[in-house]
Amino acid sequence: MTEARPKPAARTLPDAQTVTAVRHWTDTLFSFRCTRPKSLRFRSGEFVMIGLLDDRGKPLLRAYSIASPSWDDELEFYSIKVADGALTSRLQHIQPGEEIILRPKPVGTLVLDALLPGKRLWMLATGTGIAPFASLVRDPETYEKFEQVILMHTCRESAELDYGRELVGALQDDPLIGEIVAGKLHYYPTTTREPSERMGRVTDNLSSRKVFEDLGIAGPLDPVRDRAMVCGSLAFNADVKTILEGWGLREGANSEPAEYVVEKAFVGEGI
Ligand code: FAD
Ligand code: A2P
Repeated sequence: MTEARPKPAARTLPDAQTVTAVRHWTDTLFSFRCTRPKSLRFRSGEFVMIGLLDDRGKPLLRAYSIASPSWDDELEFYSIKVADGALTSRLQHIQPGEEIILRPKPVGTLVLDALLPGKRLWMLATGTGIAPFASLVRDPETYEKFEQVILMHTCRESAELDYGRELVGALQDDPLIGEIVAGKLHYYPTTTREPSERMGRVTDNLSSRKVFEDLGIAGPLDPVRDRAMVCGSLAFNADVKTILEGWGLREGANSEPAEYVVEKAFVGEGI
C-alpha cells in the first residue's frame, strides 16, 4: 500500500516551523517536536492552530494543545491519527526536517491564571486530553502554586497511556524540575477496556472515592482546598463537571478565575 506523504509547508510561509523529532506510540497516537518561533510566548496549558498546506496550497489548520512547557526551546505536540481525518491522515506521516504551519496565537482556559489559589490541583484527562497537562506538569510554576498535583489519565488500553507514563517517569530524573516534583506529583493512570494495574473511568474513580483511597489522600475535592482542570471528550467533560459542581466547585475562566476549568480535547462527530 502506498501512503500519502505530507507536502511540507512552503518555506515562504512566515508561520512555517521545522519538525525535529517524531515518535509513534500506537497505531492511533504519535507525538512530535518542532522549532519554536523566537517571538512565541505562551502559558503552559494553552493551545495553538497548527497544520499543513492542503492539495490546493491552502493552510489546513486544527487546534492543538502545546504539550511542552513554556520554558522549552522547542514545541511538542501529542496527536491522534484519524484515518480519514483531513489533517491527521497526512500529519501522521510527518518526518524530521519537514515543516508544519504554526499560527503563533496561543489561547485557552487550562491555565493556572484561570484558577483561584488552592492547595491541590487535579488534572483530569482522557486520550489526547493529557496534552495540556504534559505541559503543566513540566512547569515549575505549577508546583510553586500548588502543594500537590494529581494527574488522572484514562484510556481504553494500556499502550495509550505510554506517552504520559514515560513523561511522568522522566520528570523524576529531570535536572531542572525533578527535585521540585518529588513528593508533589501523584500520577493515576487507568484503563477501561484492557486489564491493567489500575482500572476505571476518571468519573467512577472520583465518585466511588477509590482514587483518594488508592493515593492515600483526603477526599472528595472541596472548593476551599481543591482546584481542577478537565480535558477530554464533550461527554467526559460534561460528566466530570457534574461531579465537581456537586462538590461545590465553580467553573472559572481567564476573565473570572474560580475552582475549575474545562477545555474540550477535540470536537466530536456532528458537533
Ligand atoms: P477532524 O476532522 O478534525 O476530526 C475527525 C473526527 O476525529 C472528530 O469528529 C472526532 O470524532 C475525532 N477526533 C478528532 N480529534 C480527536 C482526538 N484528539 N482524540 C480523539 N478523537 C478525535 N487533537 C490532538 O490530537 N492533540 C491535541 O493536543 C489537540 N488539542 C486540541 C485542542 C482544542 C481546543 C480542540 C478544539 C481540539 C484539539 N485537538 C487535538 C483536536 C484537533 O483539533 C483535530 O480535531 C485532530 O487533529 C484531528 O484532525 P483531523 O483534521 O484529522 O480530523
Ligand atoms: P470507556 O472505555 O468506559 O468508554 P474514547 O476512546 O471513547 O474517547 O474514550 C477514552 C477514555 O475515556 C475511555 O477510557 C473511556 O471509557 C473514557 N470515557 C469516555 N466517555 C466518558 C465519560 N462520559 N465519562 C468518563 N469517562 C469516559
